Amino acid sequence: MTTVFYTASSLDGFIATAQHRLDWLLRRDVDPDGPMGYNAFARSVGALVMGAATYEWVLAHDKGWAYTQPTWVLTHRTLPQRAGADVRFAYGDVRRVHKQMTKAAGGRDLWVVGGGDVAGQFAVAGLLDEVWVQFAPVTLGAGFPFMPLALELELLEVARNRDFLCGRYGVVGAPGTLDSFDAEDA
Ligand SMILES: NC(=O)c1ccc[n+]([C@@H]2O[C@H](COP(=O)([O-])OP(=O)(O)OC[C@H]3O[C@@H](n4cnc5c(N)ncnc54)[C@H](OP(=O)(O)O)[C@@H]3O)[C@@H](O)[C@H]2O)c1
Repeated sequence: MTTVFYTASSLDGFIATAQHRLDWLLRRDVDPDGPMGYNAFARSVGALVMGAATYEWVLAHDKGWAYTQPTWVLTHRTLPQRAGADVRFAYGDVRRVHKQMTKAAGGRDLWVVGGGDVAGQFAVAGLLDEVWVQFAPVTLGAGFPFMPLALELELLEVARNRDFLCGRYGVVGAPGTLDSFDAEDA
């Protein structure tokens, strides 16, 4: 069972504009059945987790619900339930959420959908195993960062999927270790 932050990013490391826009991403060409594509990844997933803003984006932009797996939404608020979706609301320590997801996933992988801060919470808890990024050929200059903390990764796989440069990375260090490397180099 692997816990994966699977996301798309601009080349300069943003997953959404400051106004939560994703049009820069959604107009790009990708083959969901192609290399490192969405369809095979989604089949490997047994449970999902996302932050409140990501869930609200889906509610506002998608009519249905794309996921068949149980989905945890992290929020301090009472948000509407999407009809027909297995959505479970939770708050606080992601270690508790991870335990519940693992139980529900039946041995399949866990998908941290985002945003970057939620992925960071799993990394800080030592619960993030891999990061898969589909880099779109665009820079945004500002927005919501792909990962708001220092995290050391190793490159495991790379592929091109039409417009996208796709990377699969393993998490090899605890968050913050890049600072220690800087101190040693100085
Ligand atoms: N490019 C991509 O593939 C991709 C992927 C995912 C998301 N996105 C987009 O990226 C943007 C990310 O924005 P974001 O970082 O603000 O989004 P987010 O992670 O989806 O939501 C952040 C919110 O989630 C709630 N939250 C997070 N951790 C929590 C915890 N441990 N307990 C309780 N509540 C918790 C808080 O909301 P409350 O306290 O208000 O409830 C927090 O403000 C969104 O526009 C999203 O649509 C893009």
